[in-house]
This record gives sequence, C-alpha cells and structure tokens, in this order.
Amino acid sequence: MVTNSSEGASAFGDHREVVSPHRIGGESKVQEFLRTFRCSRDSDLGTFLHDRAIFYEKKGRARTYLIVDSDDEHDTIVAYIPLAITHLTVCEDTPLSKTIRKRMDLHDNMTDAYLIGQLAKDDRVEERMGHELIRVAINLIRPGFEMFGCRTIRIDCKEPLLKFYEREGFFRISTEPVDGLYRMVCLI
Ligand SMILES: CC(C)(COP(=O)(O)OP(=O)(O)OC[C@H]1O[C@@H](n2cnc3c(N)ncnc32)[C@H](O)[C@@H]1OP(=O)(O)O)[C@@H](O)C(=O)NCCC(=O)NCCS
Repeated sequence: MVTNSSEGASAFGDHREVVSPHRIGGESKVQEFLRTFRCSRDSDLGTFLHDRAIFYEKKGRARTYLIVDSDDEHDTIVAYIPLAITHLTVCEDTPLSKTIRKRMDLHDNMTDAYLIGQLAKDDRVEERMGHELIRVAINLIRPGFEMFGCRTIRIDCKEPLLKFYEREGFFRISTEPVDGLYRMVCLI
C-alpha cells in the first residue's frame, strides 16, 4: 500500500484510494511512481503528471490527487484529479441561465472558482469511471466550500468531452472555445 491515509470521501471500493502524492514518500519515490502513468489519448495529461505535478504541488499552485489501486504487491495509478483555485469572467452573451449566474455571485461579471484540472485515467483502465471521478473531485472541493465559501467549480475541456461534462451537470459559460478549450461550470 502506498499510504495509510486517503483523501476525501471516496466513491470507490476497498482496493482503491484517493491519495496525495506527498503521502507516498520522498520526491524521487513519488516521481518514479508518477512516471508509471500513461494516457495516450491526450499526451499532455501524462506529461502533466510526469513533469509538472510535483512542481505545482511545491509551489502551492495546484493539488493533484491520485486514484490508486492496491493489492498485496502493487500500487497502480488508475487516474488523477488536479485541483486548484482560479477565477473566471462571464461574457455578456453567455449561454448561462440567469439563475445560474445569480448563484455564481458575479461581481463585474467575474467570480472566484475551484478548478478541476483535466481529469485523466490510465490507458490500462477499461472500466468507465468518469462519473466517479467527478464525484470524488466535488467531494474533495466540498470542505473548501464549507470553510471558505465559493460555489463555482470550473472545468476547461476539449470539444469531444463537452457532452460528458454536460451529462455530469456542467454548463458552458461561452459558446466559443478559448485557446481550444470550452470553459464550463457547475455549482456546489
Ligand atoms: C476524461 C476521462 C477521465 C473520463 O473517464 P471515462 O471512464 O472515459 O468516462 P466515461 O466512460 O464515463 O465517459 C467519458 C466520455 O468522454 C469520451 N472521451 C473521454 N476522453 C476523450 C478524448 N480525449 N477524446 C474524445 N472523447 C473522449 C469517452 O469516449 C466517453 O464518451 P461516451 O460517453 O460518448 O462513450 C477519460 O476518458 C480520459 O482519461 N480521457 C483522456 C484524457 C482526457 O481527454 N481528459 C479530459 C480533458 S478535458
């Protein structure tokens, strides 16, 4: 087992945990473990975990949570969830409903938000786990909301993922992508 202590309320079973990298051990051990992750569907996402996650962790710029399967011999990263604090601006011609905009508590069309960075699961994982990953991400964010407030959760996604996030309760904040990514929000 990589750790004795997992993070947040997990929607997963006995052999699967949500783990912070710093709980795994020293930096070289963590780095070696992160390098076992593969996501060929979007190579940037593998690169984030291999090259940037520890740097972001040290800077306090983001937190990366690993979903880890453990048996007596092996630990395997099945997916990861990067979380950070961000903000967003809503354009005048946003497709967001008035009700959602009101709940976002916009000031000058801006609000703070929790950011779910791009989720990724390992190539070797065949099961569908998108829904569980979103639930785990929201459960990790919830204590932040309880302690500090801020109802808005932002995710930036590529076009093929739009339907998936809409199914999970996210709304587009603009009709056009920004730098190839669609900004979406959901509310706690
Ligand atoms: C995003 C992700 C974690 C979701 O996990 P999952 O187990 O595939 O989730 P689900 O099976 O519940 O559904 C995800 C849907 O998005 C689609 N999808 C996911 N990543 C995709 C990609 N990079 N390109 C095209 N479609 C993609 C899946 O095919 C599926 O579509 P469907 O519902 O029409 O079958 C996983 O698909 C993944 O790691 N994708 C590659 C990395 C990625 O693109 N991350 C998101 C960046 S915004």
